Amino acid sequence: MSDLYRLACPACGRDFPGEATTLCPDCFYPLSIVYDLGLVRQRISREVVEARRQDIWRYEELLPVEPESARLAGVGWTPLLPAHRLGPKLGSGELFLKDDAACFPTLSFKDRVVAVALATARTLGYDEVGCASTGNLGNAVAAHAARAGLTAWVLVPDDLESAKLLGTAVYGAHLVRVRGTYDQVNRLAAEIAERHHWGFVNVNLRPFYAEGSKTVAFEIAEQLGWRLPDNVVVPMAGGAQLTRIARGFQELVDVGLVPAHPVRIFGAQAQGCSPIAAAFLEGCRQVVPQIPQTICRSLAIGDPADGRAALEVMAASGGGAGHASDPEIRRGIRVLAESEGILGETAAGVTVAVAEKLVADGRIGRGETTVLCITGNGLKTLECLDGHLDLGAPLNPSIAAFEARHAELRGVA
Ligand SMILES: Cc1ncc(COP(=O)(O)O)c(C=O)c1O
Ligand SMILES: [Zn+2]
Repeated sequence: MSDLYRLACPACGRDFPGEATTLCPDCFYPLSIVYDLGLVRQRISREVVEARRQDIWRYEELLPVEPESARLAGVGWTPLLPAHRLGPKLGSGELFLKDDAACFPTLSFKDRVVAVALATARTLGYDEVGCASTGNLGNAVAAHAARAGLTAWVLVPDDLESAKLLGTAVYGAHLVRVRGTYDQVNRLAAEIAERHHWGFVNVNLRPFYAEGSKTVAFEIAEQLGWRLPDNVVVPMAGGAQLTRIARGFQELVDVGLVPAHPVRIFGAQAQGCSPIAAAFLEGCRQVVPQIPQTICRSLAIGDPADGRAALEVMAASGGGAGHASDPEIRRGIRVLAESEGILGETAAGVTVAVAEKLVADGRIGRGETTVLCITGNGLKTLECLDGHLDLGAPLNPSIAAFEARHAELRGVA
């Protein structure tokens, strides 16, 4: 194992070398990866990072992965785009989009977390891996496992979008559709991982999985010219991504790659599944589980594993939370597509809709640098737009028919 990190219990400090464990058996506290940031600081610099390949492994000193052969190349380093047209529409002068709808290979930020978790699984000797998923994680596990020659088990609620189901099965993964909510699927996955001794990325490999999310924060800072933004808006399901983005920013400061700067972290959820946002808005420190009912299936986790930590991060950063109804989610998808040419999935609709409200309420200042995390690709969730866009009736193939349509669409009699 590297001298730069260890798997440890943050409560009692006990180490768990070479193990896939999530909870400390002594204090039942979730384990996390702890870095020797003093040592990392000696080895990493902007020049070292900039000279490396453009993927998540350019920050290797801050990732718990070795050896190099276990790493899937090409994951991450997605565009950070200035939102020249969406910004004015939302009322934000300095708006950026971190576009993980373009992440390799399965078009969501889950490729980052799976790259780290499966590299760890291989190092720990697992040849069967799996996950409980709301869709994107399953796609990523299936694809990465195929490339690595691992057998994959993907457990999902049976009502997912067809692109997410087909987009798992196509890689030869064992797709297990379960009649139930994500939270029921997740409990089943925990039992299976233990009984079969498989590497489940968001169960027994969770401390490693969560680390992959930090790379979004590393890239945002580097792409802004090695500085931190004022605000970031992140969609939340289990809450892992939001908490790790905050940690990622802090680690960059701690190792001297960026100057210290407060970043307000805002979490976005669908109204029909908003346990974390609701708790935040009610001023509660505890998350009360919900039964999801929303078109945003990717964020439909009613009992979020990192919910409490997400509440603490949002509060400590001076950020906040918000939620969006199904019609607002659809509108958010369309506004993003029409103004920036980016087709985000339902989670992106949530993020855009919540960001718009945060700017309107003055929670996000108009002149501040704000980054919206676009975490997944809308080609996977197109059915939420079925019946909501005008596709036009088919035309006869004649110029007269076209000109009649032209006049109609231009509003000319
Ligand atoms: C597209 C997308 N965005 C955001 C999330 C939320 O991630 P987390 O569970 O880390 O909060 C998910 C989770 O599945 C997702 O699929
Ligand atoms: Zn402990």
